[in-house]
Amino acid sequence: MDQNQAPYFQALLDYVDAGVLPFHTPGHIQGNGMDLAFREFVGDNICAIDLTPMPGIDDLLQPTESIKEAQALAAEAWGADHTFFLINGSTSGNQCMMMTAVNPGDKIAVPRNSHKSMLGGLVMSGAIPIYMRPEVDEELHMDLCVTPETIARTLDEHPDLTAVYLVSPTYYGVAADLASIERIVHAAGKLLLVDEAWGPHFHFHPALPLSATRAGADLCINSTHKMLSAFSQCAMLHAKGERVRLDRLMSVLKMFLSTSPNLPMVASLDVARKQMATEGEALLSRTIELAQDMRGRLNAIEDVYCFGEERRGRPGIFDLDPTKIAVTVKGLGYTGYEASEILRRRYNIQVELADLFNVVALVTIGTTREAADRFVEAFEEMARDERPLDMFAPSGILEQRLRRGTFHLPPIPPMRMLPRDAFLAETEFVKFRESRGRICAETLTPYPPGIPVISPGEELTPEIIDYLRLELKAGVRIQGPFDDELKVVRVVKE
Ligand SMILES: Cc1ncc(COP(=O)(O)O)c(C=O)c1O
Repeated sequence: MDQNQAPYFQALLDYVDAGVLPFHTPGHIQGNGMDLAFREFVGDNICAIDLTPMPGIDDLLQPTESIKEAQALAAEAWGADHTFFLINGSTSGNQCMMMTAVNPGDKIAVPRNSHKSMLGGLVMSGAIPIYMRPEVDEELHMDLCVTPETIARTLDEHPDLTAVYLVSPTYYGVAADLASIERIVHAAGKLLLVDEAWGPHFHFHPALPLSATRAGADLCINSTHKMLSAFSQCAMLHAKGERVRLDRLMSVLKMFLSTSPNLPMVASLDVARKQMATEGEALLSRTIELAQDMRGRLNAIEDVYCFGEERRGRPGIFDLDPTKIAVTVKGLGYTGYEASEILRRRYNIQVELADLFNVVALVTIGTTREAADRFVEAFEEMARDERPLDMFAPSGILEQRLRRGTFHLPPIPPMRMLPRDAFLAETEFVKFRESRGRICAETLTPYPPGIPVISPGEELTPEIIDYLRLELKAGVRIQGPFDDELKVVRVVKE
């Protein structure tokens, strides 16, 4: 196939060139009816290609022309048998993978550090989760990957599993040993699903971790918008081999996709593929070099640490994506949240993620050398500053807890009901601090990084309550609860 072509983008350009008189959605009619200030800002061209599925432009739900061709090009580029474009991110990808692979009552092994969209998949599918503990780096307060040993043990303990679901890489750029995991899972006759939301670029450079398609995952998802150049919300779902029923996957996709997809978004997937297939390795070489240079310069700053190759090979760190820059700031006397705020207020720099100890910056094919320099210089200046430890009160509490060694991730709470049953059950609100022993009916996810601490159906333990109250005091946003401040929590009615 000719990877220099972008057939879907071309189909949109052809429509515009033909000067067709439009009597169809969207109602702004190629920008004519749009608010002027908005149109001036976003530009005429994006409005001109914001069209609707029709003959000649193809239909994402039932592709027969240029979208079919664009998806086939993407499958070839990523080494998949079939690729499907998604317009609601890897969020919908997780839901589609789950709805395709498992039925109500089927067991699926899932890591505890899955993104909350995986839980949506569990609620919708009615599958039974068997949680696996990822490795944890206590020093950096970071979840890592699940090891092949954990997967083998889980398969031994639950021979009736239907599928194993994995997250690799993590938000911090740590990758699992996918080759070994693939061998173990397929030898046991189970399906392997991989959430590779953060690794759409892996397939295009030999210095990056093994991609899920190359490793032989049955289904995997990529957020093309996260690390490559597609518009926000754009993602891809890749399928490989004969183990997954393609007809089921296609009917699930039809259920999840809008009948009115945003066509510039779909076109941006087509051109992001073309860009990677034709110049990906060169673009990524430059990106990796820039990121490694930043990492080296950051590590030369006193009290700043940016993990990298020296951690490779530890449990849960099989491989690393060098383009994720996780800066551990606890040596500077700040929480990651504080550092993120200082970066924004004082240096006009916005990072992707902040947690208690770290800030994570993405270096992508769009990052300039000048931006990289400013990022490093900001840390050089922060390290030279006088640092009032009580700049934000919560760090005082954290400091004390850390010094006493009483700050740990809480243990996985017992699952007393299936996620789906708890989500659909009759519920009531109780005071969060008095909720011990109750069955949680909502997902409580400190965000970022978006990893649920408790999910519907699980018991609110003292450790969970304590941990979340501390995160709240440290200024962390908890996503998922009805009450943002978590004064009350929704639990299953007794
Ligand atoms: C591991 C993981 N999976 C899935 C998602 C959801 O991806 P999207 O934002 O593309 O819907 C995220 C989002 O951050 C994520 O971190």
